[in-house]
Amino acid sequence: MNKNQYLIAANWKQNGDLKSSIKLINNIVKLYKKAKPKTDVLILPPSIYLGAVLNRLIHHKIPRKKISLGIQDISPFSNGAYTGELSIDMARDYKCSYALIGHSERRHTFLENDKTIFKKTKLSLQSNMSTILCVGETIHEYNKNLTKKVISRQLKSALLKSMNLIKPNHSKLIIAYEPVWAIGSGKSASLKDIVDVHNYIRTTLNKILGLKKNNIKILYGGSVNDINAPSILSLPNVNGALIGGASLNSKKFIDICSSI
Ligand code: PGA
Repeated sequence: MNKNQYLIAANWKQNGDLKSSIKLINNIVKLYKKAKPKTDVLILPPSIYLGAVLNRLIHHKIPRKKISLGIQDISPFSNGAYTGELSIDMARDYKCSYALIGHSERRHTFLENDKTIFKKTKLSLQSNMSTILCVGETIHEYNKNLTKKVISRQLKSALLKSMNLIKPNHSKLIIAYEPVWAIGSGKSASLKDIVDVHNYIRTTLNKILGLKKNNIKILYGGSVNDINAPSILSLPNVNGALIGGASLNSKKFIDICSSI
C-alpha cells in the first residue's frame, strides 16, 4: 500500500477543554504545514469541540481531504429520544467523514456488546461514513491464547450481516486492531504479534467477503508513539495507526504521521 493510503488517526478521547483543543489543533496544523506528511490524517476530538476544531481548520485553509474529522462514537439509532447520544447526521453537520466504533473503552467501560456494535457499524456504513471498527483482546484473553478467537467473533458479529454495504466499496471500512492491554499502558504489542494478528484479520476479512484479497485498511493502536511508529508502520498489513496519548502532543503526533 503506498504512503498516501496510510491513515494516522488522533483519538483525543475525553481530554482537554476548549482552549487546549484549539491550541492543539493550531499546533498540529502548524507542524503539518511544515512536515507535509504523505499519510491521510484524521482528528477525532471530543464531540463538543468538533465545531471549534473545524473552524480552526477552515481558518488555516486546510481542506478536509488533508486533515479529516471524525466522531469518537455514534448512537446506534439514527434519530429520536435517546438522551445524550449523537447521530451520524449531527456528526456530518461538523464535516465528520469518519466514525470510530467499538473502541475498547466503549466495549469495556461502557459495556457495549457485539449487538450494539453491529448496529452502529451498520448505521455508519449505510450513511456512507468511513467506518473504523475497533477489535482487540483483553490481557486475560491474550494470556489464554484466545486473541484470534475473540477477533474473529468481533469481526463476524459486526460485519457479516452488512456484507451488501461493504462489498461495493471496501474503502469505507477500516479495522483498528487494539489489544486492550496495550492501550494507554506504554507497552505496545510486539512486532511479531502485530504481524501475526494483522495477517489473521486480513485472512478473516477475505473469508467474510468471499474474496482472495482485499484492500481494507488495518490500523494498529495501543501505545504507538514517535519512537516505535516507524517500525510498527513498516510491518506488512499495517496500513496506519490509531493514536491516543501521543496524539495530545502535536510534535509527537506529526512525527508519527511523518514517519512513513
Ligand atoms: P494509546 O490509545 O495510544 O494512548 O495507547 C490508543 C487508543 O485507545 O486508540
